[in-house]
Amino acid sequence: MRKNIVAGNWKMNKNVIEAQQLMFQLLEYKKKNTTNCEVWIAPPAMYLMMAKDVFSHNEIGVLAQDMSEYESGAYTGEISADMLESIHATGTLIGHSERRQYHGETDSHCNVKVKLALDKGLTPIYCNGETLEQRKSGQHLEVVKYQIEVALFTLTAEEIKKVVIAYEPVWAIGTGETASPEQAQEIHKHIRTLIADKYGKDIADEISILYGGSVKPDNAKEIFSQPDIDGGLIGGAALKVEDFAKIIEGFNS
Ligand code: PGA
Repeated sequence: MRKNIVAGNWKMNKNVIEAQQLMFQLLEYKKKNTTNCEVWIAPPAMYLMMAKDVFSHNEIGVLAQDMSEYESGAYTGEISADMLESIHATGTLIGHSERRQYHGETDSHCNVKVKLALDKGLTPIYCNGETLEQRKSGQHLEVVKYQIEVALFTLTAEEIKKVVIAYEPVWAIGTGETASPEQAQEIHKHIRTLIADKYGKDIADEISILYGGSVKPDNAKEIFSQPDIDGGLIGGAALKVEDFAKIIEGFNS
């Protein structure tokens, strides 16, 4: 059975005091409440060790926001899969649209990173999604197909089972505009069908596919209730414990 997951992407927010405060608030929340999903956070890289200390019993999974496509060496500013493995991180985001937009990341880079992460026992959360122009011109299904094929279809069946996919339409990220539950479900189903066609239905049914893009406390429940949506990748609303908690509770019946 695939997992339900709510993951918070903190992006480049919070100084050290604020980051620590939010981590302790989340820890307290997690201790007091039973959640019907796994809860993960992706804080800025410099707070990863702190997060591992705060969540010392894995109450909350700890993700990097990105990881290098190289194993080690002269790559200033980068973090390696080996480093993440050595702190027992849960995994890493790969191919977030902001990495694509500002750092020229492509699906071929993502393909290398996904494989490297898997080789180190890390869960890759592979992010993909179309731009507004692509959606307006009716290319969204094709774009997503291309992204999934290039980044993931060199993996074996055993490998792809361990990948988490986050469908994040670029036009819905940080804009306050959300894909409707039906629009999101259409793409999630499309992704699952692509995987089923290549690897078989059993494998496709095991993969968690998250939706990202302006998920908020008031729309989470409806989005998560779609049959092929297994949780969310949350940006802005992950920065306040109250909002993030309400989104997590979108999985409570
Ligand atoms: P948002 O960001 O929730 O602020 O739209 C989502 C993301 O970028 O993962």
